[in-house]
Amino acid sequence: MYVNFSKNLEKNLKKYYKKKELINSKYLKLSEPIYDINEAKKIFSNFLKGKLSQGDNVKNFEKNFSKINNCKYGIATNSGSSANLIALTAIKNIFNLNNNDEVIIPASTFATVAMPIIQIGLKPVYVDVDLKTLNISVDEIKKAISKKTKIIMPVHTLGMPSNMPEIIKLAKKKKLLVFEDCCESHGASIDGKPVGSWGLLSAFSFFVAHNITTIEGGMILTNNKKIYKECRSLREFGRIDQENIGKNRYYSDKYIKDYDKRYVFTKIGYNMRMTDLQAALGIEQTKKMKKFNLKRIKNANFLKKLIVKDLSKYFFTTENQKKYVNTYYTFPLIIKEKINFSRKKICNFLEKNFIETRPMMGGCLPDQPAFQNSPGKIIGKLKNSRIIRDRCFFVGIHPNVNQNQLINLVKKLKKFLN
Ligand SMILES: Cc1ncc(COP(=O)(O)O)c(C=O)c1O
Repeated sequence: MYVNFSKNLEKNLKKYYKKKELINSKYLKLSEPIYDINEAKKIFSNFLKGKLSQGDNVKNFEKNFSKINNCKYGIATNSGSSANLIALTAIKNIFNLNNNDEVIIPASTFATVAMPIIQIGLKPVYVDVDLKTLNISVDEIKKAISKKTKIIMPVHTLGMPSNMPEIIKLAKKKKLLVFEDCCESHGASIDGKPVGSWGLLSAFSFFVAHNITTIEGGMILTNNKKIYKECRSLREFGRIDQENIGKNRYYSDKYIKDYDKRYVFTKIGYNMRMTDLQAALGIEQTKKMKKFNLKRIKNANFLKKLIVKDLSKYFFTTENQKKYVNTYYTFPLIIKEKINFSRKKICNFLEKNFIETRPMMGGCLPDQPAFQNSPGKIIGKLKNSRIIRDRCFFVGIHPNVNQNQLINLVKKLKKFLN
């Protein structure tokens, strides 16, 4: 029965994918499914075999993904936001941080960079970003460091690495911890060293739009065994260490005697596990990550040339940095300051022409309603973050985008400007 089901499934999937290709070519979307029949088969076969909740697939995905990122340990989670929450909680627990200790973050980024910091009683310190990279400015970090600073949390924005050599140097000098948010930057690197392997730990997202996907999902990477164990426990209810449980199944202390370790809780934790079905997808996607990223980079370079050639009077985008590999989660365009048309108008025009756009994530986070009355500290005027808030939008550059779609995008931009 399983064999028949699989055969029919394959036939139907082939038909489905043919149809889908035809539909998609009309739009320049921000993201499209970047999985194929192979991944669909893996998910269905795992489903039929009953490999559902966290199990061997999750273990293998953690092993493979941490390895390609030069890290020893991976802890898969149900989202990038959860990965950030668990990672920050682990640091707070292990290094005995106090409430209101400070975490330096870029002001222009996604909401769940700052939210988990607030959720666990720490304080986000918002610093400005550099317009050439859209990443946290090292000079601004220097201004932000206080007696309460404990963590620097750079975000590698839209695939562009933050200046990790300088950030690590500064953190060492000031004895600060570094936690990298790599949710938008799978496979990016500086001088061959992947993002996510520079700091003490890092977090990734595998949400559908990202460079590789598990639909929803995330992962923490680290080389530190203590952090690895703490994150694993926090991910699953604050349970006692479950490794090698087969050898010694029972726990005893002053109150509980010979209690099954699967139900012994040693800290306040969460349930933020990834399913085995998602991990099956993640394993296949990891194998394709390099190929996907090369296509993104090729698309981005092609589009950048067109923008520089024809539209540099109106827009600018990020600048390539020596020895950096930017894996382009999306392609940002910033309307130049003296240009007098609104982002709203141009984005509406593009959307009407089947080109999807988005503003730059949270824009300038402390200006968002959720953060106006939340704990936090702002350093300086956040001039660049507010330029991004008001003048930046991004378009899709994913592996299914072809050069004709990018030529068409530039044509449409020119049409709007005329
Ligand atoms: C920088 C950054 N951090 C965290 C997240 C959260 O990831 P998720 O959507 O998987 O929760 C995102 C989401 O895109 C992000 O861009």
